[in-house]
Amino acid sequence: MKQVTRLLCAALALQAGAAFAEDTGPADVKFEDFAVQASLSGQAGDAAEGAKVFKDRKLGNCLACHQNAGMKDELFHGTVGPAMDGVADRWEPEQLRAIVTDAKQVFGEETVMPGFYSLRVGKNVREDLVGKPILTAQQVEDVVAYLATLRE
Ligand code: HEC
Repeated sequence: MKQVTRLLCAALALQAGAAFAEDTGPADVKFEDFAVQASLSGQAGDAAEGAKVFKDRKLGNCLACHQNAGMKDELFHGTVGPAMDGVADRWEPEQLRAIVTDAKQVFGEETVMPGFYSLRVGKNVREDLVGKPILTAQQVEDVVAYLATLRE
């Protein structure tokens, strides 16, 4: 059964790869050793913009799962994932980029953290959102730039 699932995934990945062959998009992101070296947008991230994406309930909504001492004024910090304080001491920016882009690549298929620049967002995706990542490449870069400022 597992083998079949794996084959199916490989076939789907090939299809997705083909669909995006001429485009740069989520299917073209290169993960190596749990890290993504290149900026997704080709531009540097903006930490101030990233903070907005982090707390915006319609964008990153990261606070739903992650406490963040730097955002005390925001309500409802979830505790599903680890607190974000000092996250830049634990991960390199290239690893943070991989986590935000597609957490499954780092934590495995079972993680509840969504892939924010991935086409494998999850089940029961609204029809108009199928095939679209949650964040844009630049929004991911901005979030990563913001996370890189979170040192203890
Ligand atoms: C639905 C809950 C959920 C959401 C939403 C979510 N995450 Fe996560 N995140 C997790 C979980 C759970 C983990 C721990 C890894 C695991 O067990 O799968 C994690 C791990 C992480 C880590 C590694 C932390 C560490 O200290 O090791 C980072 C960084 C991170 N998330 C960033 C983000 C950012 C940025 C966002 C928003 C763009 C976000 N997460 C949204 C659930 C979530």
